[in-house]
Amino acid sequence: MTPILLDTDPGIDDAMAIFYAMADPAVELVGMTTVFGNVYTKDGTRNALALAEMAGQAIPVAEGAQVPLVQPPNKPSDFVHGAHGLGEATVPDPKASGDPRPAHQFIADTLAERPGEIVLVAVGPLTNLALALQHHPEITKTVKHVVVMGGAVRTAGNVTKHAEANIWNDPHAADAVFAADWPVTLVGLDVTETIRCTPEDFAPMRETSPKCGALMNEAAAFYFGFHIQQHGVNACFLHDPAAVIAALEPSLFDTDAVPLSVICEGEEIGNTVEGMATDRRAVNVCIAADIDAVKTRFLRHLRSGVLP
Ligand code: BDR
Ligand code: CA
Repeated sequence: MTPILLDTDPGIDDAMAIFYAMADPAVELVGMTTVFGNVYTKDGTRNALALAEMAGQAIPVAEGAQVPLVQPPNKPSDFVHGAHGLGEATVPDPKASGDPRPAHQFIADTLAERPGEIVLVAVGPLTNLALALQHHPEITKTVKHVVVMGGAVRTAGNVTKHAEANIWNDPHAADAVFAADWPVTLVGLDVTETIRCTPEDFAPMRETSPKCGALMNEAAAFYFGFHIQQHGVNACFLHDPAAVIAALEPSLFDTDAVPLSVICEGEEIGNTVEGMATDRRAVNVCIAADIDAVKTRFLRHLRSGVLP
């Protein structure tokens, strides 16, 4: 089993990643931390707690940053994820409340409990990771690996032609994460936009997991609408689940090891640029994926009936 700590801005594809992590028996989901991005942080925390409860799993959730490190916050992407992050689907109010610690403290404490064992998978803006690096620099030694969904290294961005959303929402934080001396794999648009699921792929989950599968289908319907409008495809990109799968089965991805920097101002703000800061530790940038294998693994576990 791979112990995973998931930093997330839930978000429809974040919800897919969360349910996937809970359904795949190879994952031990040790906790979730929340951040702004797709939604305001409070909505993200509510969604994370509600999804865990719906899945019948007691996963600790610690709330994180409400705003980026330096720049003023961008508006949540409600046109992609709906007003509260799950499209037009609704979830009951969670009974559990979040962990009282701020996300950066929760990250440091959780990694310290099992040094060298836990993979930190970040699928939202990287503010919590940057704050954790600032306040608890020892995490570069206690983490096993960091997997980030973000960036568009050799392809176009999705917010501007240069920038991918997670990096664009806090470029200073992302730059700090890529500057740190720790092992990072980047699962960016270079690969995630090649991994696509259709409404037909999601439909069987309604039967096998009547609660979680129905919610997933309802939330995904909104996400399909965005992809049809924006990209002209009746399918959705599997951004955040791809990062979880990269943490479990890195052999499904081809990578190039290059130092990475983020442009923090001007027209190219949020651009992830390779080879600019040659003194940095190289990041494993995913440049290709075994698309069928990633998709098959994702769908197999979400259709397995493990979730209620
Ligand atoms: C990333 O941005 C968010 O909208 C998604 O949840 C994903 O993490 C894709 O650019
Ligand atoms: Ca996300």
